[in-house]
Amino acid sequence: MKKVAVFNLREFDEAEWFERYGKELGLAISGCPDAPSLENIARVTEGCECADIITSQITEELMAEFARCGIRYLVTRTIGYDHIDMAAAGKYGIRVGNAPYGPNGVAEYAVMLILMSIRNMKRILERTNIQDYTLQGIRGRELADLTVGVIGTGRIGRTVLKNLSGFGCRLLAYDPHVSREAARYADYMPLSELWRQADVITLHAPLTEENFHLIGKKTLQEMKDGVVIVNTARGGLIDSDALIEAVEKGKVGAAALDVVENEFGLYYYDHKADVLENRQLAILRSFPNVTVSHHMAFYTDNYTRTVIRDSLESCRLFLEGKPNPWQVG
Ligand code: NAI
Repeated sequence: MKKVAVFNLREFDEAEWFERYGKELGLAISGCPDAPSLENIARVTEGCECADIITSQITEELMAEFARCGIRYLVTRTIGYDHIDMAAAGKYGIRVGNAPYGPNGVAEYAVMLILMSIRNMKRILERTNIQDYTLQGIRGRELADLTVGVIGTGRIGRTVLKNLSGFGCRLLAYDPHVSREAARYADYMPLSELWRQADVITLHAPLTEENFHLIGKKTLQEMKDGVVIVNTARGGLIDSDALIEAVEKGKVGAAALDVVENEFGLYYYDHKADVLENRQLAILRSFPNVTVSHHMAFYTDNYTRTVIRDSLESCRLFLEGKPNPWQVG
C-alpha cells in the first residue's frame, strides 16, 4: 500500500478521518504531530512520495530535504499556498497541490467578527465576566447604517458579500478581477475610493509581494475615522505597528484579527507558561476594541472532513498519474 506522510496531524480531530479516507483510497498514513523540519522529514517521509502539510513555512532548505527524501508531491490542506516556496519546489522537481475547503466557514466567521466589532462584543464579554452590567461605552452600531468594503472577491469574499447582502448595508468591493456574482451585491471601485468610503473593511485577498502591508501608515490615513478592520486573510496584509498606532490614536475604532504577522510557530500550540516574543500581538490583544483569534476561521466540522478527503484524493491521483484538479505547481 502506498504511504502518505502527514505533518501537523492532529490526533484529537484529524487522525480518525485520515484513517477512514486513507482506507477508502488505499493509502497508508505516516503521521507526525509537528510541522516539517530538518530533524523530522527523513523519519516521517520514509517510503512516501507524497507529503500532506498545513500552513507551516516551507523554505528552500526544507524543500531540498523533502526532495532528498524522495518526496515528489507536496499537498497543503489549506486555502492558499503562500507558505510554500514555489520556486524551490520547481527547482527540486516537487509538484505542489492545494486542496482547499468550502468558503462558508471563513465567510461566516468574518461576518461574525464584523458584528462583534460594531457591537463592542469584546468589551461586553469582559464586563459580564466580572458582573459589570453597565452600559457606558458599549453602545453599538447597526450594519444597515454602515458601508462595508470587501477586499478580494474570490470564493470567500463573494460569500461574505452574499451573506452581508441580507443586512441592508451598502457594499463596496475591490479586486483586480471583477466577479459578476460579486457585482450583483457590491459596487467595485479603486482601493483609494474604498478606503475613503468604507466604515468597515474586511480582507479576503491572498498575501502576495505586491500587497504586503496593504493596510499601513499611509492607507490608514486615507480611511474614515473610527474605521473597523477585519482580517481573516493573512497577517502580512496589515502592518501591525501602523495598526497599533492607529488604534491608539482612535483612527481605527475596532479591529478583529484572526491572523497576525509572525504567527508561525505560535498558533496551535499551548504557550500558557511561555514569555512570547511577539510584542505586536501582545499589544493588539490588550486593546478592548481589538478581538484576536488564533487563525481558526476555517475550523469547522465541514472543513475537517472535506480537506482531509480532498488532500488524500489529490495524492492518489498524483500517484496514479491521473489529472489532478488540486495541482497548482
Ligand atoms: P480565492 O483565490 O478564491 O480569491 C482570492 C481573490 O483575491 C481573487 O479574486 C483575487 O483576484 C483577489 N486578489 C488577489 N490579489 C488581490 C489584491 N491585491 N487586492 C484585492 N484582491 C486581490 O481565495 P479565497 O478562497 O477566497 O481565500 C482568500 C484568502 O483567505 C486566502 O488567500 C487566505 O489567505 C485566506 N484564508 C484564511 C483562512 C483562515 O482560517 N483565517 C482560511 C482560508 C483562507
